[in-house]
Amino acid sequence: MEDIPVNELTKDEARAELARLSALLASAELAYYQADFPEIDDAAYDAHKLRNQAIERLFPSLKREDSPSLRVGAAPASGFGKIRHEVPMLSLGNAFDDDDVDEFDARVRKFLSLDGPVSYTAEPKIDGLSLSIRYENGHLIYAATRGDGEVGEDVTANAKYVSGIPHHIENAPGVLEVRGEVYMEHAAFDALNQRQKAAGEKPFSNPRNAAAGSLRQLDASITATRPLAFFAYAWGALSTPLAETQLEAIKQLHSFGFATNPLTKLCDSPKVLLAHYQRIEAQRATLGYDIDGVVYKVNDLALQARLGMRSTTPRWAIAHKFPAETAWTRLEEIDIQVGRTGALSPVARLHPVTVGGVVVSNATLHNEDYIKGLDSKGTPIREGRDIRVGDWVEIYRAGDVIPKIRDVDLSKRENFAPYEFPTICPVCGSDAIREEGEAVARCMGEFSCEAQRIEKLKHFVSRQAFDIDGLGVKQVEAFVEKGWVTEPAEIFTLRQKHGEALSKLEGWGKKSATNLLNAIEARRTIPLNRLIFALGIRHVGDSSAMMLARHYQSWDDFEKAMIKAQPHEGEAWDDLNAIDGVGTVMAASVVDFFHTRVTREMVVALVAQLTIEDVQPPDTGGSPVAGKTMVFTGTLSKVSRAEAKAQAEGLGAKVSGAVSAKTDILVAGEKAGSKLKKAEALGVQVLTEDEWLALIAKTR
Ligand code: IVH
Repeated sequence: MEDIPVNELTKDEARAELARLSALLASAELAYYQADFPEIDDAAYDAHKLRNQAIERLFPSLKREDSPSLRVGAAPASGFGKIRHEVPMLSLGNAFDDDDVDEFDARVRKFLSLDGPVSYTAEPKIDGLSLSIRYENGHLIYAATRGDGEVGEDVTANAKYVSGIPHHIENAPGVLEVRGEVYMEHAAFDALNQRQKAAGEKPFSNPRNAAAGSLRQLDASITATRPLAFFAYAWGALSTPLAETQLEAIKQLHSFGFATNPLTKLCDSPKVLLAHYQRIEAQRATLGYDIDGVVYKVNDLALQARLGMRSTTPRWAIAHKFPAETAWTRLEEIDIQVGRTGALSPVARLHPVTVGGVVVSNATLHNEDYIKGLDSKGTPIREGRDIRVGDWVEIYRAGDVIPKIRDVDLSKRENFAPYEFPTICPVCGSDAIREEGEAVARCMGEFSCEAQRIEKLKHFVSRQAFDIDGLGVKQVEAFVEKGWVTEPAEIFTLRQKHGEALSKLEGWGKKSATNLLNAIEARRTIPLNRLIFALGIRHVGDSSAMMLARHYQSWDDFEKAMIKAQPHEGEAWDDLNAIDGVGTVMAASVVDFFHTRVTREMVVALVAQLTIEDVQPPDTGGSPVAGKTMVFTGTLSKVSRAEAKAQAEGLGAKVSGAVSAKTDILVAGEKAGSKLKKAEALGVQVLTEDEWLALIAKTR
């Protein structure tokens, strides 16, 4: 009976199991305290105790008078420990239609310079939360959530209660990190919600939230009562390769004891991928668990390695999402929110409606044109139908994204007035100006607009930015209202200027004030990529911030380059644009940020408070080009330009678009022209394509 998962026990079995555990734990405790030799080791003791607690949770009426949980034990931890993933946990790019899938295949073949077909695996995209489990010599060492992809939460004790995850593996590689999705089946979800309701607790809104809430329990005995399942679909660090193909690797994981998805199939063209997508979509309603698309992966692992990754997504995989679920409801009001960049965003207030299992009462309306029935190029959308307060509208939501309005039913429209977009900021009264070529109107108030100030600061303390424990949205709003914090630098002078007052503020005490001030101190040292993201530069998300940080590596170099850069000309501008993933719009936005007085002053004040950690280039053990600046020019015949660039960056080189005195190596393909001449004139080392490939072959 000790092998039966807690949530599958019958009442009689539970009673018997509690009796067995009580006797077993009592005897173990006696041996531990009174004899020289413990009967069982600590881990086994903890596991039995947790199991006992979990059963008591599910069957409170069976709790014994001599229950082991009435005896003193360790208190649950106050927070999860952090675990740095040895290999980052990636997310996936998305495809929404057949053309996107064709384009993905074309991109893969172009990158690899292949004319022939590429084989892919196709498998359901599970709607749960990802988990990485590390084994050493076959023993489960730890399990961590994805977190920000680099650092996750330690949920080792909890993961042991997830079915489909073995605790020991025979004949495993010395180091094996298995990655996959933790999810909850529909039947289990319904049963759990019944129990929640019976216990007077709030039911979960969907199986994914239930899975996340159940795995992330500080008290693992609660997790033990929750029916969680797992599918393995990927891996992180490995001491020896699992196989030569994705499909074989997944089979290997299955033979190690992991649950793997039975709908995983090998497909040798985009056409076959799409056929499998249709097949999976047709089964969606009867699978018994939530999926939100189909994931395609290049099957050949050597090709996967060549394709590598962009900053947070692999080039060798894509998620083909299912169309979003929709519902109709009444648009009750249009409110305007002012964002951190001053953008005025119209928000639809809706009569609450359930879409895909979640109650929706707000949706984004994007911008003025969207309400009018026009896209960003001025072409009609919804056949030009505008949206008015009072209208009957169709809502859709895809995954976690904010719900949107797809259509409007004109047959139900009464005498509603067309919506007039405001020309002044509804928060501060400054002019709201829509510049030529821009889709949105912006409040010109910058830091003098309270809404912008609060949004900029909220972004500054958000999870991928400064992530200061105890400094969330509520606290930011309170400090702004008091006038204590008007810009980021003032977070770091809070102790000095308002420390005393803080501990006397309502709802605060000495202890909580000290905790917050200590948490702020701890963040005075910050990695460069987090700082760049936190600045809130338009068009710079967390993955672009990482790309910029990896390229410039130190704050000094980044700042100097941005000050030197002028839009659309010169070396510093070319260098910025040559970064993989940086386009002219983002580049112009970053340069503008450093050349605008208000933002520049904000940055100078902030940086004076901080110690900024350099971002290390990827581990390039023994790379001959680490830290060097390289330029590729001319036609390359054996690898695509994109692959050559990725190879160089993977080996720690910076790849630039222009030759200058800072260039260390120029790789010149066929028909190289002016860049080659310039490099020769500057005495830069010049390699042919073959010489370059020979050089990197040595490092493999
Ligand atoms: S592969 C390097 N396969 O989707 C590739 N991901 O939107 C790593 N997910 O973070 C992911 N089902 O949490 C992969 N069959 C599947 C998946 C899957 C669900 C999740 C995963 C990932 C997210 C990206």
